Amino acid sequence: MTETRDPRHLINRKLEHVEATVFGGVERLTSTMLDDITLVHQAFPGFSLEDVETMSYFLGKKISSPIMVTGMTGGTPELGRLNGIIASVVEEMGLVMGVGSERIVIENPSSEESFRVVRRNAPTSPLVANIGVPQLYRGYGLSELKTIISVIEADALAVHLNVAQEVFQPEGETDYREETLAKLRDLSKEIGIPVILKETGCGLSIETVRRFSSYGFHNFDVSGQGGTSWVAVEKLRGERRGNWKSRSASVFSTWGIPTAATIMETRWSDPTSFIIGSGGLRNGLDIAKAIALGADVGGFALPVLEASLEGKNSVRSFLNDVLFQLQAAMLMSGSKDVKSLRKASIVIRGGLKEWMESRGISLSTYDKVRKGGY
Ligand SMILES: Cc1cc2nc3c(=O)[nH]c(=O)nc-3n(C[C@H](O)[C@H](O)[C@H](O)COP(=O)(O)O)c2cc1C
Repeated sequence: MTETRDPRHLINRKLEHVEATVFGGVERLTSTMLDDITLVHQAFPGFSLEDVETMSYFLGKKISSPIMVTGMTGGTPELGRLNGIIASVVEEMGLVMGVGSERIVIENPSSEESFRVVRRNAPTSPLVANIGVPQLYRGYGLSELKTIISVIEADALAVHLNVAQEVFQPEGETDYREETLAKLRDLSKEIGIPVILKETGCGLSIETVRRFSSYGFHNFDVSGQGGTSWVAVEKLRGERRGNWKSRSASVFSTWGIPTAATIMETRWSDPTSFIIGSGGLRNGLDIAKAIALGADVGGFALPVLEASLEGKNSVRSFLNDVLFQLQAAMLMSGSKDVKSLRKASIVIRGGLKEWMESRGISLSTYDKVRKGGY
């Protein structure tokens, strides 16, 4: 059994990832560029805070608010406990949750319980299963996908893209060949639930989204740069092992597409797609900005994991604050519901404006694209 095929190795790696992201200082090393967008203040919104309606949809399913906890964990009893805590609050609040990579379920079926708990604690919430592109390339097929979907009775399957992480991971697997997309397209016709193509902190570009759309994929979690950095995580792990790749990881510490820019690139490339705006979102105002820019739902990972370490009350308190901040932003931008938030007046300045110009996206045309998504 090679090191990467050994389930103990996967478990240890997941635990080390959790430890590194929580204690390693690997987030917010660069900007999401969400600071370059301002929701224009409306002194007389024409309605009151109680009238703000955050109800929304996740791939056709009704949710109370456009908030998702994106995939992070599972695999050991302790990580299952964290999954269970997050799932209970997600259910209470009517939100959406993804789980971490379920490769471990295939390689070590006794880890199933750490994922099953999510559906048990969140019986009505939309849940998203998770697997990586390299696993598809390396032979996972319909049977493996059906297993990981059934473990959480998933409503959608996220296939994660983490090429930057794999490049610098001491034991990384960089299999990102074109044929995997054709394979995924064929599999997606048989699994019966939507597929979401999900980045993990480096964002999706115009070119990548066009490639995905040409294969019939139209659901994206952009996971842009500015939040948890997986290059930084692998740099840290490499340093601990004296691995030569860690020196090169430092060179790429700012690699990626900032979250605000990737939301715009994705909406521009596939105007009617379903977009989870994520990567470095840390409060409800960030969610409001992500939606006004073109996302359908906003996603958090690390802040929710950190809160879960302190228990359910801490997750509840974090997400309640997020919800209140989202409602406040909606009121003060004159957006009575999520549909109106997508049409709210915004100003785009600084680096984000330059980014768009250099990518050939005219801001006035973009304004029509983001508002026309509904
Ligand atoms: C501890 C941890 C583990 C993660 N594991 C996965 C994973 O297994 N699969 C995946 O698609 N994304 C994974 N992610 C990435 C997140 O879903 C998210 O895309 C990324 O962390 C950016 O969001 P953030 O800045 O809010 O953390 C993980 C994130 C964290 C913090």
